[in-house]
Amino acid sequence: MRHLKIKRAAAMVVLVAVAAFVAFGHVDNAPPTEQQKEFAVQTADLLQKEVFAALLQEFGETTPENVEQGKQAISLVFHDANRDMRLIGNAAPLLGGNNNIPADEFEQESLALALQGKPNTTVERHGNRWYYRRSIALSNSFHTSCALCHSNFTPQFFQETNNPGQWVGALMLRVPVKEN
Ligand code: HEC
Repeated sequence: MRHLKIKRAAAMVVLVAVAAFVAFGHVDNAPPTEQQKEFAVQTADLLQKEVFAALLQEFGETTPENVEQGKQAISLVFHDANRDMRLIGNAAPLLGGNNNIPADEFEQESLALALQGKPNTTVERHGNRWYYRRSIALSNSFHTSCALCHSNFTPQFFQETNNPGQWVGALMLRVPVKEN
């Protein structure tokens, strides 16, 4: 009987220690070091090249005959559930629907800059994690195929929106900053 009590007490101690460790982990999210940020920036550089390779493939392979299949394929690459890689814009009709409307302050600020052809970056905390975020401006003049899928990307549209550089939105990348 006594033996059981000791066992119980030991189990309690372990439980409290685990709870304390978890709780500590939750509050211990001080801003990342310069080295940790640099690592995330380097990861984002690689990711940006990888995603651009996929986008260039998409632009090059689109023909009037495969537009609908191409749209479906690119929607799978930029799946709504993936918050680390996103395309955003505000020109109706958005091919990505409501999901591609800027979803927070950084995206709102980034889209405004992207429509002037400017990039944006930040390091910020979401919940318990720090992230390096980057926005890359996208232009309709990158490739002639854009308008095959985005029927709204027309010269008239850009005249109306007074956007002669034809900046249309942004590619958003988000890289978790490693903790060690
Ligand atoms: C094969 C068809 C296709 C081509 C070609 C294409 N796009 Fe898209 N684009 C899409 C689809 C589909 C989405 C929505 C993806 C998603 O589900 O998030 C999208 C989303 C976007 C968005 C976010 C706003 C929105 O409408 O959802 C921007 C900005 C964008 N594309 C820019 C471009 C530019 C610039 C080009 C040419 C250089 C281009 N696209 C070429 C299919 C295409």
